[in-house]
Amino acid sequence: MQFTLRSTHGLVRCFVLARAATLTLGLVLAAGSLPAPAVAQEPSTTFPKAPPLPDLTGKVALVTGSTDGLGRDVARRLAAAGAQVLVTGRSVERGDSLVDEITRSGKGSARFYRADLASLDQVRRLADAVIRDNKHLDILINNAGVGFVFDTTRKFSAEGYEMHFAVNYLAHYLLTKRLLPLIVASAPSRIINVSSGSQEPIDFDDVMMTKGFNGERGYAQSKLAQVMMTIDMAPELQKRGVLTYSLHPASTMATTMARALNVKPRSTIAEGVESVVNAITTTEPSGTFFNELKPWKAQAQAYDAEARAKLRVLSERLVGEK
Ligand SMILES: NC(=O)c1ccc[n+]([C@@H]2O[C@H](COP(=O)([O-])OP(=O)(O)OC[C@H]3O[C@@H](n4cnc5c(N)ncnc54)[C@H](OP(=O)(O)O)[C@@H]3O)[C@@H](O)[C@H]2O)c1
Repeated sequence: MQFTLRSTHGLVRCFVLARAATLTLGLVLAAGSLPAPAVAQEPSTTFPKAPPLPDLTGKVALVTGSTDGLGRDVARRLAAAGAQVLVTGRSVERGDSLVDEITRSGKGSARFYRADLASLDQVRRLADAVIRDNKHLDILINNAGVGFVFDTTRKFSAEGYEMHFAVNYLAHYLLTKRLLPLIVASAPSRIINVSSGSQEPIDFDDVMMTKGFNGERGYAQSKLAQVMMTIDMAPELQKRGVLTYSLHPASTMATTMARALNVKPRSTIAEGVESVVNAITTTEPSGTFFNELKPWKAQAQAYDAEARAKLRVLSERLVGEK
């Protein structure tokens, strides 16, 4: 699969995000061929640098999926800037280890919340715990994700929803909604959705992909849903002092997700971190989708207001709340 993204400056570029030897996500490396780096490698000299983070002392940032990969290094960067980081994921061992590391560093602070985003009950409990423990939430980074494997077997969340859609999109939709009062009360604040360049239109007649399932499409549909949510929420959030962005962090970062596929890594995790930091500091209009650090045109369905409204109504129904 290959698709074209058009930059907001009119420049047409192609992501080769696609299959088999090529490969979506822009991820991958042979399973087990590279260990996960404990510390991010340096970005390449050609990868642009984001503006430095401001001093985040006194700010609170929640990073979903910060027990591993990109999220873990984003959490490290935020803590290094002085933030209190709320670390989330399923692995207690990796969560506790990151909290220890940040505590020992003497910069910022951290606290771990275990939650499996494949359960909407656990998403609600996570939101409740965050609201209970924190007086504000300045930055929410919806980063956790399940990648795809080349498989035609559907997997399901606790509620019976297709797994990519449930974890990558729906859990973050619900978490964002539930945390919104705290985020609004902390304005100016930001919500960053870590999506991907891998995007395919949502088939509203078969969102759970009962027919002709394949993992790549499930992943790509969930990633477009994140972009659509960002664009959909932006105007209302802006009125309340909250900016929101979505982004493709970097292609083929050497992460656990990537290791499930079979392609050579093309980017370091540190490069992906630059993209997230850029979204935290950017002055581009709220709702912008970034390809790494550049404002970019997402898949066309993202700009279809009717499709976004359909996704909103569907999401409200699936989570059982407005
Ligand atoms: N790697 C790339 O090249 C690439 C490219 C484009 C976009 N992205 C996006 O970047 C984000 C981070 O990906 P990554 O490459 O860093 O992946 P990763 O190394 O596999 O990390 C994924 C993170 O998500 C968490 N997670 C997964 N399933 C979860 C669940 N059911 N409940 C709670 N947490 C869950 C994991 O936590 P536990 O391990 O503790 O469960 C882990 O912390 C994803 O949204 C991905 O789609 C990555």
